[in-house]
Amino acid sequence: MFTAIPRTADTSEPLLPALANRWSPRAFDSTATVPESDLTAMLEAARWSPSANNAQPWRFIVTRRGTPEFATIFDNLTGFNRAWAGNAGVLLVAVAELRDESGGEHPHAIYDLGQSIAHLSVQAHHLGLFVHQMAGFDADRMQRAFHLNDRLKAVTTVAIGHLGHAGSLPEALAKRENTPRSRIPLTDLLLVNAT
Ligand SMILES: Cc1cc2nc3c(=O)[nH]c(=O)nc-3n(C[C@H](O)[C@H](O)[C@H](O)COP(=O)(O)O)c2cc1C
Repeated sequence: MFTAIPRTADTSEPLLPALANRWSPRAFDSTATVPESDLTAMLEAARWSPSANNAQPWRFIVTRRGTPEFATIFDNLTGFNRAWAGNAGVLLVAVAELRDESGGEHPHAIYDLGQSIAHLSVQAHHLGLFVHQMAGFDADRMQRAFHLNDRLKAVTTVAIGHLGHAGSLPEALAKRENTPRSRIPLTDLLLVNAT
């Protein structure tokens, strides 16, 4: 595994290390594979996320590099995601179940799915792995490629793997790999902060 410059979040109070140190690289090690036990642990973290009414409306298409299904996900990525995501050990499609089989709505499905991927990401970082989510994909083509019916919506794709060397990326992307991470100040996020 390669080391990058520290990209720890600049926080006003200390965070759990996996939260403070998590970041989304584009340089993945194309020679490394994600251990099956780690992959299972990440999916378990997603599975044990909270959800509205415990509906658990998250579904996952999980593919390992070298499989035809991995190539299908990669082929449906768009823009500069195609310059780097193929090096990840795993590509996943995060799918929201919008309605159950009897037509019952899951109005919070996308919120719940996002939360499950957040849990997966933190577990990944704890295991020394990296996660990079991507909305840059052709959603219609992805739906068709995996025969997803209209109850199931492909919301994001997710690259998972070991950190690679920024030098393996096109120059513009390599530069972003070392740019400091930034966030809107906490005070700007608090619409109300009653004391
Ligand atoms: C839903 C979602 C979609 C994203 N789509 C892309 C994408 O298509 N391509 C990309 O390079 N990064 C994508 N990102 C990564 C974000 O740009 C990144 O998380 C953000 O800049 C914060 O950086 P950090 O995760 O390193 O803190 C996406 C992130 C999320 C959560």
